[in-house]
Amino acid sequence: MGERLNVAVLISGRGSNLQSIIDACANPDFPASVKVVLSNEPDAYGLERATQAGIPTEIVPHKAHPSRKEFEEAMQAVLAKYDIDLICLAGFMRVLTSDFVAKWEGRMLNIHPSLLPAYPGLHTHERVLANHEKESGCTIHFVTPGLDEGPTLLQKRVPVLQNDTAETLAARVLEQEHIAYPEAIRLLALGKVHYSKEQVEVDDVEPYAPPRTNEIAAPADHTHKSKEIPSMDHHNPSSTHIDPAAIAQAKATWSLFAEMMKYSVIGSAGILTLMALSLL
Ligand code: GAR
Repeated sequence: MGERLNVAVLISGRGSNLQSIIDACANPDFPASVKVVLSNEPDAYGLERATQAGIPTEIVPHKAHPSRKEFEEAMQAVLAKYDIDLICLAGFMRVLTSDFVAKWEGRMLNIHPSLLPAYPGLHTHERVLANHEKESGCTIHFVTPGLDEGPTLLQKRVPVLQNDTAETLAARVLEQEHIAYPEAIRLLALGKVHYSKEQVEVDDVEPYAPPRTNEIAAPADHTHKSKEIPSMDHHNPSSTHIDPAAIAQAKATWSLFAEMMKYSVIGSAGILTLMALSLL
């Protein structure tokens, strides 16, 4: 295959989205590779994930810099070492200045656990539940100076269920995040994404099928490790689930068939008895 897109992933913590990107890039046919993982938090678990995958890590602690500008200059100097084409913010919890954003315009993505423009910022799932929303999801968007703003590249939707807590909803959304980020990177790397400040157009392509990995969400996620939850993503026919309505329909058809068989056996027995009696 041809050139792969050089990706820098910026994190602040757990790094489960980072893991989904690492897993996708492990496939030699995937058109991107992670060149560096940069964290502003020295003890981010995502750094361990990168090290385990043999990916260089860089720590640029925001606290060590007196201003946002200096912090970003330090990040920029680090990124310059790696010939980066695309920055992926994956749980990177620092607001970036418009100078930094302008340097990477059209080449920096963010993931957010809501259907933007709804619910930017923190405590997304709590607010979705408080407003009794019927659905939620995640958004991959190009980064512009506003918080969780910028034109959307793709979204994945999930239902909000009646008994959901912020944790169960977060887990359901996170499962889709892990599909969305590699899919977005792949689309960009294949040249299928046409960016302008106002909007993004995406060509029609086969949806991304994520690799089957045993463990993405760790360590905090062990409690809500995923049951298969049906995706509502219409672009992803590979996401299969058994519809309970179809099961009920099949059961009803089968019991009707069994009932008909029972009466036809009784009927046949009756006819045979009558024939036997008429012969006597
Ligand atoms: C993800 O849910 C991501 O969408 C969110 O932080 C989490 C990071 O998880 N990002 C934002 O809220 C950005 N506004 P991860 O470290 O396991 O990938």
